[in-house]
Amino acid sequence: MAQPDVNASLWPEEEDLVRHAVDKRRQEFALGRAAARQALAGLGVAAIAILRHEDRRPIWPQGFVGSITHCDSFCGAVVARESDMRSIGFDAEPAKPLPEGVDRIIYGEEEAAHFSALPAWTGLSWPKLAFSAKEAFYKCFYPVTQTRLGFRDVRVHFTADGAFEIASDEATAFLNGTVQGRWLMRDGLMFTSFVKI
Ligand SMILES: CC(C)(COP(=O)(O)OP(=O)(O)OC[C@H]1O[C@@H](n2cnc3c(N)ncnc32)[C@H](O)[C@@H]1OP(=O)(O)O)[C@@H](O)C(=O)NCCC(=O)NCCS
Repeated sequence: MAQPDVNASLWPEEEDLVRHAVDKRRQEFALGRAAARQALAGLGVAAIAILRHEDRRPIWPQGFVGSITHCDSFCGAVVARESDMRSIGFDAEPAKPLPEGVDRIIYGEEEAAHFSALPAWTGLSWPKLAFSAKEAFYKCFYPVTQTRLGFRDVRVHFTADGAFEIASDEATAFLNGTVQGRWLMRDGLMFTSFVKI
């Protein structure tokens, strides 16, 4: 995982993608691109512009997969060789509860019962972690399938410390095989990742 230099700037081709965006969006886009270049450099890839598909997915160099995330206090990227994994999704969120009123958009009764039965950890909101886990899963799933999913199409089950599983009737073929969800909470942030080997 790479975190960028805060003074990161955009390459000209990338600049074109956010020319009309507000400053905050330009900044997070620049930081994401810088983090992605840094992560790719770790795998020996020379710096390049990272453009995007029409649906916003980053276009990774041939033979590589990756994922970018940003929230108010963090921006980062992960990359891997496609020969090591088929896809990866990464998400970071402030370790705060979900905003009031959105719970039922994000998860159903069965998941609510599961979260309630989990141990209480200081500062950890299981529903918020589930939100992040679903975002990480989606960022892994979508580039492979180009299929859109809603939050309630996907169920999260937290297993051993630091791990989660995903179930979804809409993603059975994708989930068939080696997949792994991981999470970590640190410095007021929650991080989730989902990989398909
Ligand atoms: C793609 C999505 C999950 C990103 O989450 P987010 O909260 O907006 O923001 P994050 O900062 O964590 O991630 C944004 C980055 O994800 C990447 N991204 C965007 N669309 C993507 C897609 N379809 N597939 C993979 N990665 C994508 C981009 O790199 C983007 O950053 P950039 O525009 O600066 O390059 C979200 O925008 C989205 O489209 N959600 C709808 C689908 C969904 O969430 N379904 C429920 C979960 S199953």
